[in-house]
Amino acid sequence: MSINRLTLPKVYDEAQDFMPLLGTDYVEIYVSNSKQAAHFYKTAFGFQELAYAGLETGLKDRESYVLYQDKIRLVLTSPLKSGTTIGQHIEAHGDGVKVVALWVPDAQIAYDEAISRGAKHYMTPTKEEDADGYVIRSGIYTYGETVHIFVERNHYNGIFLPGYTAWETAYKPIPTGLLYIDHMVGNVELGEMNTWVNFYKDVLGFAQIVSFDDKDISTDYTALMSKVMSNGNGRIKFPINEPADGKKKSQIEEYLDFYEGPGVQHIAVATNDIIKTVRELVSRGIEFLRVPDTYYDVVLDRVGEIDEDIAPLRELGILVDRDDEGYLLQIFTKPIEPRPTLFFEIIQRKGATSFGKGNFKALFEAIEREQELRGTL
Ligand code: FE2
Repeated sequence: MSINRLTLPKVYDEAQDFMPLLGTDYVEIYVSNSKQAAHFYKTAFGFQELAYAGLETGLKDRESYVLYQDKIRLVLTSPLKSGTTIGQHIEAHGDGVKVVALWVPDAQIAYDEAISRGAKHYMTPTKEEDADGYVIRSGIYTYGETVHIFVERNHYNGIFLPGYTAWETAYKPIPTGLLYIDHMVGNVELGEMNTWVNFYKDVLGFAQIVSFDDKDISTDYTALMSKVMSNGNGRIKFPINEPADGKKKSQIEEYLDFYEGPGVQHIAVATNDIIKTVRELVSRGIEFLRVPDTYYDVVLDRVGEIDEDIAPLRELGILVDRDDEGYLLQIFTKPIEPRPTLFFEIIQRKGATSFGKGNFKALFEAIEREQELRGTL
């Protein structure tokens, strides 16, 4: 029996949910060079061109490129002048996730419900309109300077949001098989994990589905505590990490130091063929964390029979874990910006609904080798 089924209602009733969420709408990353970042996400990850807003569309202070791959939408935004809130965000945090936008049936109700339950205001419900209809957006803060924007788009037929124009160039690298966002993980300060677990419970109506304690996932030097929050229909999962005591600096502390506060640690994206996806990503220049080769000598003893041959998993460094419902395959990129902060996970679920706890020890040891090289352990 899975932990998920124990804690989530057996039959999800959207009418009973004060905060019905239809899915992740988009993720906006503030970057110092949106034009070059867009090229990177196209070339290396296989994202496709969707929309653009900037000087050519009448904006004076910023530009954004919107990319998509299957159900994933990424917005890459840079300031066009000094003294903007976007620029201040980049100055403080480096490139990082600013917005995790949630698709809602009603952005006014979502905002009112969240504020009445204690959320901190970010964006007053605002109607944005063009020839393709209208969108209403509102927003609240979550951990650090990260925000959730509620997007109501059932009266809109445009490509992305009002104000954006289609973006199309002659350069179209093919997709790499990324399908949707499986989960997004937040790192928060020591002692603050439960604050944010309660925030997702009380303000957004999420439930906790899995918990690891630090004994589960510590090495000699590093440790973390993690709780996974899920919305009612299970489409949105936000694990929250906090550092735990270790002999040396944990990867969560390293993140908090370099991000200068809490923020999104990784975006996990799903594929239906991880071997094909990862092989493609490697050929396009994405660098992944590697566990020692000995991991593969014993992995099948731990997880039992799997459909895949072990040889390509070993060759590419793909990890395997099993829970009560099946198994999963996963791999983690190295950080994708100068600071050791945000990275991506590629995940293929074959029944498993957990997050790869069995891999954490091997993984942490791999991260510690990287920290050693950075002199931050
Ligand atoms: Fe993950």
